[in-house]
Amino acid sequence: MVEFRAPVGTRDVLPPESARWERLVALFAGQVERAGYGLVLSPMFEEVGVFERVGEGTDVVRKEMYDFEDKGGRRVALRPEGTASVVRAYVQHRPTPPFKAWYAAPNFRYERPQAGRFRQHHQLGVEALGTDDADLDVEVVALAWSVCAGVGLTRVTLLLNSLGDDVCRPAYLDLLRSFLGDASLCEEHAAGYANNPLRVLDCKRDTCRTATEGAPRLVDHLCDPCAVHFARVRAGLDSLAVTYTLQPRLVRGLDYYTRTTFELAADSLDTAQNAVGGGGRYDKLAEALGGPATPGIGFGLGIERLLLAADAEEVFPVPQSAVDVWVVDTTGGTAALALTHELRAAGISADRSFDERSMKSQFKSADRSGARLALVVGDNELAAATVTLRDLRGGEQETVDRADVVEHVRKRLS
Ligand code: HAM
Repeated sequence: MVEFRAPVGTRDVLPPESARWERLVALFAGQVERAGYGLVLSPMFEEVGVFERVGEGTDVVRKEMYDFEDKGGRRVALRPEGTASVVRAYVQHRPTPPFKAWYAAPNFRYERPQAGRFRQHHQLGVEALGTDDADLDVEVVALAWSVCAGVGLTRVTLLLNSLGDDVCRPAYLDLLRSFLGDASLCEEHAAGYANNPLRVLDCKRDTCRTATEGAPRLVDHLCDPCAVHFARVRAGLDSLAVTYTLQPRLVRGLDYYTRTTFELAADSLDTAQNAVGGGGRYDKLAEALGGPATPGIGFGLGIERLLLAADAEEVFPVPQSAVDVWVVDTTGGTAALALTHELRAAGISADRSFDERSMKSQFKSADRSGARLALVVGDNELAAATVTLRDLRGGEQETVDRADVVEHVRKRLS
């Protein structure tokens, strides 16, 4: 028989680990909803053109996209990232700006799987469209930062840069191209960087690192409006005591970014996969997707990476999740069915064994479950319309009327 396994680069998340995911999504939702962001659900696949707009020059789109022709002959792609889908939805539905959205969703990239790098990963993200007010940049960056803090991470560095706009960036790119001239670069970049010389700055290989040591920095060549915007973002972060490191090499892996860009690097993780999140402005994306000119900014935090960083810092443990009550029934009738149903309806978590197990085996399951109380129904209890209530931690027990079970359980649990 073939034994099927989850596809390479994907993972099953089972209980109790999955309880951490639930808690993380709840923490994230709580923080961003307090800041006025609403949940957006968008399709897991889109017409391929939606994603081509976000980065024809990037690995994410050129090499890693799960694109295919569907049975109707349409070219579609599984979402490699969340921003394009939200902006496409914004353009399609035109909600009143500012439009502030959040999501927790899977993304698909055909990458070489390794620790912290998956073919299906999950992001917690926000996107805010409709204003280029620098205060919004500050809000978004500070939110990403406070989610990391909420998880309990302390060894995370916030890297900040500005990528300018289409007024100042082209001139800077010319400057960078002439600086790079015939410098010796790594194999990939020696073969061609003319389209996007910024990628050379981001290259981790020694040859490119050395070649770009004294390269001009985009932050020194911003046009006045971009420089003013960036200064306001930095002052805003300072005023909120969000500490950041200016990182002029930060170019991000998608093409749509303008002005503010940022990344959260976990110092506890291996440098190749240490970004727990990243984001920035994309003031031209709505237009590129056929909509009205609408500035926007957002971020995505990788759930798997956040949890890896949490493991490395020994924070955000798997929460203890156990039902409160275990029902033990040795009568073989409907007592367990009725009791668990009644408890659950009264808002008390309860579980039971199945298959008419022995009393001993049912108590073993009760202990393993971590439940605090056991409710026992045997022949005597059934005949007397009572239930034996046993405290599984202390061991003491009492007999209570069947009709008053819920009340007694409540009292014991409180
Ligand atoms: P990104 O930097 O490509 O940005 O991804 C955001 C985060 O997702 C990364 O920092 C990382 O934690 C996680 N991530 C990405 N790829 C993988 C992978 N293969 N395996 C595990 N985790 C991964 C974006 O996707 C942008 N949409 C973020 C954004 C939102 N910018 C503006 N708004």
